[in-house]
Amino acid sequence: MGAKCIAVLTSGGDAPGMNAAVRAVVRTGLSFGMKVYGVMRGYNGLLHGDLKEMNMRSVSDIMQHGGTALFTARSPEFNTPEGVKKAAAMCREKGIDGVVVIGGDGSFRGARDLTGEGILTIGVPGTIDNDIACTDYTVGYDTALNTAMEMIDRIRDTTESHDRCSVVEVMGRRCGDIALNTGVAVGALTTLVPEIPYDFQKDVIDRIRLAQSTGKRHYIIVVAEGVGHTQELAERIQKETGIETRATILGHVQRGGAPTLRDRVVASRMGYHAVELLQNGIGNRVVAMKGEEIVDFDITEALEMPRVFDEKMYKVSAVLSI
Ligand code: F6P
Repeated sequence: MGAKCIAVLTSGGDAPGMNAAVRAVVRTGLSFGMKVYGVMRGYNGLLHGDLKEMNMRSVSDIMQHGGTALFTARSPEFNTPEGVKKAAAMCREKGIDGVVVIGGDGSFRGARDLTGEGILTIGVPGTIDNDIACTDYTVGYDTALNTAMEMIDRIRDTTESHDRCSVVEVMGRRCGDIALNTGVAVGALTTLVPEIPYDFQKDVIDRIRLAQSTGKRHYIIVVAEGVGHTQELAERIQKETGIETRATILGHVQRGGAPTLRDRVVASRMGYHAVELLQNGIGNRVVAMKGEEIVDFDITEALEMPRVFDEKMYKVSAVLSI
């Protein structure tokens, strides 16, 4: 039987475009004749009944803003069997038979557990890191890429003026996608990612020397957060080459700002798809993007899929950026 009353929540780190996904879930649900609740502060709101009933106007004017209008949180209490049972009981009390969770892998584990307690639950991938194996794209990724690119372009202006080297750290704890793609977009001399171990002499110093021999006088090195030691790396480069080197950690600036067109559109399509599944009585699925298609996978299978690193892009980056 299809869901009649659904709830939507955002969980884990926020990502630009989450609001477009929330809006899509609310408006699709209402248009299907469902009752729709917005849950405040992720699974915490579900545990404590912090919900508000949504109407068509509840989600007006949110799509163009970064962050999440439903707020977000990480909930240690929900991550226990008792917590999941309590959240499911709260759903039953409110008559909620379907939940859409917008977030990352951690949030999907919660979605799977909630389905196990009899509440149909669907995950929508929302994280700037693009680190979810089952999908080619996560909501927020494109905005974060564009922000990082713009920031590094600015860093390049001053790096060039001073004939310096800049080491710039971008987000990505376990995944080098932001680093790799911004590295290509800004022409970074070297991009270091957590998926590929690097050799300081060969991948950093030798490339600087080679570029130097062709007349280059300023250097941008992009490092994914998961590689770490950004300040230390900058100091080593300066010591080894004599080139004045600065480190910049872009940090949470990458998580904010108005979502790009791509993030708004993909989030809208994914939100719609999630509610369609619930309407058909289907739960325990993750919405995903394969090529330009919106598809879905079993959550347990999705969580077990290995992530495939884009080796080709890594090669492209090494050849072009010299
Ligand atoms: O949103 C993903 C991410 O940005 C990671 O790249 C980063 O390590 C993490 O979130 C930091 O999140 P927070 O500061 O909210 O714990």
